Amino acid sequence: MCGIIGCVSDKDCYGALYDGLKRLEYRGYDSAGIAVLGEKLSVFKKKGGVSNLSAFYARGGTGIGHTRWATHGAPSDANAHPHRAGKIALVHNGIVENYAALKAELEGEGERFSSETDSEVIAKLISRAYRKDLLSAVREGLSRAEGAYAVAVVAEDRPGELVAAKNKSPLVAGKGASGLFVCSDIPALAGTADFIARAEDGDFIRIADGRIDFFDKNLNPVCRDFTRPREELRALSVAGGGYFMRAEIGEIPRALEDTLSALKNADFAPCARALRSAERIFAVACGTAFHSALVFADVAEREAGVPVLCCTAGEFRYRPPVIGEGDVLVAVSQSGETADTLEAVRLAKSRGAYVVAVTNIGSSSIESLADFCIVMRAGAEIAVAATKSYNCQLLCLYYLAAQLLFFKRARLPEWFSALDRLPEAAQAAFSCFAEADALADRLKGAGAMYFLGRGTDLCTAKEGALKVKEIARVFAEGYPAGELKHGSLALVGEGFPVACISTCAALLKKSESALAEVKSRGGYCALFSQYPRALAESCADFKCLLPALPEALMPAVAVIPLQYFAYKMCIGRGFDPDKPRNLAKSVTVE
Ligand code: G6P
Repeated sequence: MCGIIGCVSDKDCYGALYDGLKRLEYRGYDSAGIAVLGEKLSVFKKKGGVSNLSAFYARGGTGIGHTRWATHGAPSDANAHPHRAGKIALVHNGIVENYAALKAELEGEGERFSSETDSEVIAKLISRAYRKDLLSAVREGLSRAEGAYAVAVVAEDRPGELVAAKNKSPLVAGKGASGLFVCSDIPALAGTADFIARAEDGDFIRIADGRIDFFDKNLNPVCRDFTRPREELRALSVAGGGYFMRAEIGEIPRALEDTLSALKNADFAPCARALRSAERIFAVACGTAFHSALVFADVAEREAGVPVLCCTAGEFRYRPPVIGEGDVLVAVSQSGETADTLEAVRLAKSRGAYVVAVTNIGSSSIESLADFCIVMRAGAEIAVAATKSYNCQLLCLYYLAAQLLFFKRARLPEWFSALDRLPEAAQAAFSCFAEADALADRLKGAGAMYFLGRGTDLCTAKEGALKVKEIARVFAEGYPAGELKHGSLALVGEGFPVACISTCAALLKKSESALAEVKSRGGYCALFSQYPRALAESCADFKCLLPALPEALMPAVAVIPLQYFAYKMCIGRGFDPDKPRNLAKSVTVE
């Protein structure tokens, strides 16, 4: 979602704000703005990406910045942040759920609004409460707001001071050579801040007099620990230019290697009791992470014989789920900040369930909420569409499934030792790129396509389809191969593309039947399998030989040519793979 940053420095802060916004751009990029407080308060905001702000410069050591993913009000200069009200300027990430009622009330009292945003409402409330004490004004203004927020606020008569606050939206503080900061997330501060501290819900942060202080909801001082950001989150640029997505696909073997060694050193004993006694497991996540949760559900249920119910986090909350004491919830989130996933975790905890989280960001919100957290080592993932984090999530979840079996039946799955070969197999999957490239070239003009699979191949099919939708803007659906004839075949006509992932020996023939159904209606078939014979005997027009691993582990490598295929489709169609339309990497609102 939106990215916010604030800085107080004894030098000019414009450059630090601009660079910070550039690093935050993966959170939203439909408009951006900066306010700098020097001799006066200057605000500049523009529809479009952060680079539009380079037309502006102002001197001053205190400032705030914002990169927007629109919720209330279309992307426009007026709706861009910072929002000014009286003496204050504010940037906001989140959604003020009662903004309409507040706005009506304020309008009734004569306030005039210059944007359609919910954020301007809190700017007005803070401004009305402001009487030289910025911290108290922010507290008073926010006391009427319901929903999620992380805000950073400056006042034109208080240079050198910045106040931030958070409820449910992420916020961290950082100290670095170029100044003191608040920011939406840790990766964007990595490289700038030498020490970072995460704010908790209800916290207020004041930067003034060269120091950062935290306060609780009653403005009593509280202590939050500053730690060094993890080293691997520092590299946030692509060597030699190019796209992050391409670089991140290239990093998959290294990311798997690092994650594997972290897993080998991890101590799973703290979750032994919960896993051993779990009679039911729930798995929740959103987007790409949901597809890794689906693989986990399949593998864990099969190996350990425990029913695993997998559900998107947004659905889980409103079912309402029959979860309670003795159950385990596995929550997967690359960012550790996805609002729906965090709410699912809170709900599960409130019902007494034990929560295991898998995330890429240590000290993220999900880590602080979970009873046990597995932190993968994918490194910073900047492209909005997830790639290397998916492969690493799968690795962590295989490990978790293996631990589940170990704690329940005192043995490990047959495929366990083959996890060591995953990085090498991922590297070998790169040899499929030339074929994936050719396939992308052939299909780049397609209006829609299906990805078919069965069992865990269906999870890979869904992830392949999501990638194509996200970045290449082609309608794609991941579909159970066996269901094709129950409706979806109606769309298949001359040249309609259907990709089939077929890595389970027992199901090869079934998948082939689905392709034959497509072929006989004139469709264009692509088949991905590690079985040379299945490829040789297939009617498919396009065939791709995957590296071989035990079948349970195939999702972690079979997806790689599909990630690359989507990337090439996107480039071929003239889009930016790192910044897909309408999407943000970290979805911190419900
Ligand atoms: C957004 C992103 C997806 C991501 C999903 C879940 O929708 O665009 O790429 O998979 O959020 O994010 P998480 O950080 O929870 O894994």
